[in-house]
Amino acid sequence: MEHDFIIIGTGIAGLSAALKAANHGEVLILTKRAAENSNTAWAQGGIACVMSDDDSFQMHIDDTLDAGAGLCNEAVVKTIIEDAPERIRELMYYGVEFDHRGDFKQEDEATDSDEDLDPTMLDLGREGGHSRRRILHHRDSTGREIVERLVAAVEAHPRIQVLENHFAIDLITTGKLGFAAANSVLGVYALDENSGEVKTLRSTRVLLCTGGCGKVYLYTTNPDTATGDGVAMAWRAGATIANMEFMQFHPTCLFHHEVKSFLISEAVRGEGGVLVGQDGKEFMHRYDKRRSLAPRDIVARAIDSEIKRTGGPCVFLDCTAHSREFWQERFPLIFETCMSVGIDISKQPIPVVPAAHYMCGGIETTVNGRSSLKGLYAIGEVGCTGLHGANRLASNSLLEGVVVAHRAVAEVIERLPIDDHEHLTYKIPEWQSGNAADVDELVVIYHNWDEVRRCMGDYVSIVRTINRLRRATARLQNLGREVQEFYWGYKVNTDLLELRNLVTTASLIVDSALRRHESRGLHYTLNYPKSLDAECHPTRLWRS
Ligand code: SIN
Repeated sequence: MEHDFIIIGTGIAGLSAALKAANHGEVLILTKRAAENSNTAWAQGGIACVMSDDDSFQMHIDDTLDAGAGLCNEAVVKTIIEDAPERIRELMYYGVEFDHRGDFKQEDEATDSDEDLDPTMLDLGREGGHSRRRILHHRDSTGREIVERLVAAVEAHPRIQVLENHFAIDLITTGKLGFAAANSVLGVYALDENSGEVKTLRSTRVLLCTGGCGKVYLYTTNPDTATGDGVAMAWRAGATIANMEFMQFHPTCLFHHEVKSFLISEAVRGEGGVLVGQDGKEFMHRYDKRRSLAPRDIVARAIDSEIKRTGGPCVFLDCTAHSREFWQERFPLIFETCMSVGIDISKQPIPVVPAAHYMCGGIETTVNGRSSLKGLYAIGEVGCTGLHGANRLASNSLLEGVVVAHRAVAEVIERLPIDDHEHLTYKIPEWQSGNAADVDELVVIYHNWDEVRRCMGDYVSIVRTINRLRRATARLQNLGREVQEFYWGYKVNTDLLELRNLVTTASLIVDSALRRHESRGLHYTLNYPKSLDAECHPTRLWRS
């Protein structure tokens, strides 16, 4: 089967790329679960874009560079931020509804001008590291709103086909097949989870939009699908991977035994939520003058340090400054979820801990999503354009996904014309399962899943040391060997494929962390506690 475009993943990047690509050819989207399941769908806070008179592109650029701790690519930052308003208009065209000021009863706010009172103006939220209000949102379910609208548009499009429950196992490349040509993409092997059949899907234009890898860690704000599939696949295919040591921990994940992986959006702090310790007292002023609204790396490290200092299992987010009605209206998902476990956030502080949230590194690309492997584009969290540097500024990620998707498709159709069929001369073998048996002992796979995540949580977390990183390397090497035995010895299934990708992604994080001999942004090591000018460059890994 030959396709003009294959897009893997159905978050904001994959869906918006598909809608653009369909103007030029036929598009096949693969997703390992249902189309509505993605990291994007879990995004609460919103999408950053300069929208008000007291804000400017330069201010947004400066905030992004400041959070990125010296490692952002300034030209990329500028391009993405300046492209934002046009992409936001397109999202609105697809029906995405962002909240307006008139949607909420405004509480306790000084109103300086008539504009502040205008209920038809977009309601702009504020998050850590942003010097202005610039976060467009749909209550606290912005990602869900975007995904629902874009999925509806994709499903209605005659040139887009979505294959749900299809797991992309590996990229097919000229290099892997031994052809004497510069390494380039020829397609994808994908497991149809309904039939167990592995399909051979041809395309020389593959757009990876597979999101991040939060499940590499024991505690994460990500859905179960975030297993680093895209990075691991690209690595095996020979693409360059960059900055994997910069794993962002979100400071405020709900700490409750009944509700796992539930984010308390940074926008809650933007609206007056204050971090307090076990004694009920504020502590962030001891770490940064921006207090609870400092960039995430600083806040997450401060919480980690408070938890270690006091021996308590968590800190708290005090939201009692606003009424119940305010939280219920503006953050209905958070309000209801906390209520469901007996926490009325207008009266009781929310117990919170940091949890793995966002992969700032990924497949190294240009601002147009082009990777080092011909024909392979990586968009959104799976890619590393240089926008985030050593620490992503809140709500810049949905923005990157939609902007880079647009730019990537524009470039693909220039560089890889749809009517070029030269690659069809390459003969691609079908997937061979041989005499492989079905996995009979799933317990081994589940045990290894757990081991990877505990190892990363214990040894490769917010504060690192060389010794712990080396221990992690040794454990991951053992796990890698076992997973390879399974991969070659048994028929592939989703659990095994995800485990394989988790181990690869975890190893890339640890290898990158060992190569950075300084602390910067999200990478903090006790062995090198300072940032060093000589180390201020991306970490790059590739498989020769
Ligand atoms: C949040 O709502 O705090 C998450 C936003 C983000 O990660 O950009």
